[in-house]
Amino acid sequence: MIKIQFQKKDDAKEIKAIDTSIDLFDLKLKNPLILASGILGVSLESLMQILKAGAGAVISKSIGFKPKEGYVNPIVIKPMENVFVNAVGLPNPGYQKFVKNIKEYNIDFNKIPLIISVWGGNEEEFSTIIGSFQDVGVKIFELNISCPHSDPKSRKLIIGQMPDKTDQILKDLKKIKKNNTKFIIKLSPNVTDITEFVKIAISNGIDGISAINTVQALEIDPYLEMPVLANYFGGQSGPSIRCIAQKKLADIILYLRKNNRSNIPVIGVGGIRNAEDVMRFLLLGVECVQIGSAISYYKNPVECFNSISNELKKIMYKQGYNKISEFRGKVIKVIEERYK
Ligand SMILES: Cc1cc2nc3c(=O)[nH]c(=O)nc-3n(C[C@H](O)[C@H](O)[C@H](O)COP(=O)(O)O)c2cc1C
Repeated sequence: MIKIQFQKKDDAKEIKAIDTSIDLFDLKLKNPLILASGILGVSLESLMQILKAGAGAVISKSIGFKPKEGYVNPIVIKPMENVFVNAVGLPNPGYQKFVKNIKEYNIDFNKIPLIISVWGGNEEEFSTIIGSFQDVGVKIFELNISCPHSDPKSRKLIIGQMPDKTDQILKDLKKIKKNNTKFIIKLSPNVTDITEFVKIAISNGIDGISAINTVQALEIDPYLEMPVLANYFGGQSGPSIRCIAQKKLADIILYLRKNNRSNIPVIGVGGIRNAEDVMRFLLLGVECVQIGSAISYYKNPVECFNSISNELKKIMYKQGYNKISEFRGKVIKVIEERYK
């Protein structure tokens, strides 16, 4: 972690004044730090608490068609330093219950940066779930087509690995999309060419792209002579996947720039642990970032957003920046130059 030497008496005042806000569609987020889907936020109450504690925005656990209990333990393991592997099996209350909760809460989605993550087994499920959420005012959706362990035993291809299926879902969703609804598609790193999916998403009018979901993984117990996770196969997350995420994001951003579509915001996720990592992603050109597994490194998990946001201000001050727009994308330009 970087240590900032204070030069002047009023450094602290100047650091406090640094503007970390960003625009995500019609919302102004006070900082670029978003709670990733599936981490901490299962109930609306906990999501609201995390917002209050300093997150720029929050994303719900992926909500599916039917209530789902998820897989039996072990579901999350830490096989070595900086490596997390999970197969939780998308436990969630089902969309009907969650829609009811939202109604009871009476949330103003024009003001509250709460993004609903949706997971469906097919196009009908996606459309039904999103239709119901739109009816209670939800404005921003993250479409989770990329969970590597959505199927028990996880041997089949997932939606986010099948271009035709992805295309079909997006085509159907276009038909029910309201004017002010925004769709962010969450892409899988477990594909050969991620830009194939970016192309499909753009052709279906996608509003935003987030990447990456977890990386397919397997851990084995040498004494039990068995896979460790109850589901056997899972998804890897945490600091060990950060460089993979950065490469996939570079591919996505280079593609958008080449095709004059840099107006589509990209949200970076994967392995972010601290403000230096946030800087890395912003330099690559993402609009904002999501933080997941690394929250577990913080003594008080909900405090992590405030703490990273304050550190980000210090690094920006050290580097001479007042706003994120002053340095966003600097590194992608370097990469672009090289490959012209
Ligand atoms: C325990 C756990 C549960 C997750 N659940 C979801 C989920 O419901 N929907 C989703 O889109 N991603 C889910 N993810 C993936 C994260 O949102 C994120 O994409 C991934 O973990 C990489 O980020 P990280 O390294 O910061 O954790 C989950 C990850 C973990 C570790």
